[in-house]
Amino acid sequence: MNAEWQADGKTSITSQVVEEVYGAAMDADALTALKARQQATWAAGDFATVASTITIVGELLCESVDLRAGERVLDVATGSGNTALAAARRFTEVTGVDYVPALIERAKVRATAEGLKAEFLVGDAEDLPVPDASFDVVLSTFGVMFAPNQPKAVGEMLRVLKPGGRIGLSNWVPDGFVGTMFRTTSKHVPPPPGLTPPVAWGTEDHVRSLFPNAKIDLIPRTVNVRFPSVDFWIDYFRTYFGPTVKAFEFVGADGAAALEADFRAIVEEANISGDDTIVLPQQYVDVVIRP
Ligand SMILES: C[S@@+](CC[C@H](N)C(=O)[O-])C[C@H]1O[C@@H](n2cnc3c(N)ncnc32)[C@H](O)[C@@H]1O
Repeated sequence: MNAEWQADGKTSITSQVVEEVYGAAMDADALTALKARQQATWAAGDFATVASTITIVGELLCESVDLRAGERVLDVATGSGNTALAAARRFTEVTGVDYVPALIERAKVRATAEGLKAEFLVGDAEDLPVPDASFDVVLSTFGVMFAPNQPKAVGEMLRVLKPGGRIGLSNWVPDGFVGTMFRTTSKHVPPPPGLTPPVAWGTEDHVRSLFPNAKIDLIPRTVNVRFPSVDFWIDYFRTYFGPTVKAFEFVGADGAAALEADFRAIVEEANISGDDTIVLPQQYVDVVIRP
């Protein structure tokens, strides 16, 4: 059984699929190789630049989980620290973890610049460098959803959470702009067979299958991003967003025009500005999990 895309862009993933996919299609070596490629992808470009367009997401997730001052908070796949810094602004004791060292360095610089107290560690979401039962809240904005071994990443979040703790995730949905962008990229750069699409984390059924015994609340959200023009958007993502940087590398000179044309089409289609600028609504979901 495989995770498949439906014509309307939603996944047809059902509850048992994750284990079946990993059991059947991806062995441990394949997952390790894939993770190394993913890490190189997130290290390409400069994700910290892109992250600055979506800082509001981390702020809202802190509200979704109703953070309290003094709580111990872990931000998994923190990137340049967007959500960890939002938690630090609420006087929590926060640690951010990411497997791209340059992004962790950027997070430290940002914390210093803002005078915020936060700890940042290099580490893998599937092997978190923190003790068992040490956090009241585990957060991740568009982060843990990219871990290739999803059950392992879930197991790690549960391991480090204190009894009675809560998990808050912001996940892109399959049928929003970013889901469309990932599918457009996959048309030109085929994803590895057997990989459950990260945007599966944006569907209620899949999240419930990953946390079968938890109380789960889903809050649909949209973050509008604003750019000067379509050309600017394309240039920006080609320069700074690792997955797009790598996609253009993969297609090479021969495929660049087709990839660019597809990106141009989806941005023009989703744009709601009504003028020459770009206003892109990017749909996602905040998921609050009480295991
Ligand atoms: C889309 S960015 C989001 C970053 C940040 N959470 C934010 O909202 O700005 C995805 C991040 O996940 C990190 N990431 C992906 N897979 C990871 C893994 N297995 N372990 C640690 N970090 C990971 C990448 O390095 C990247 O910083």
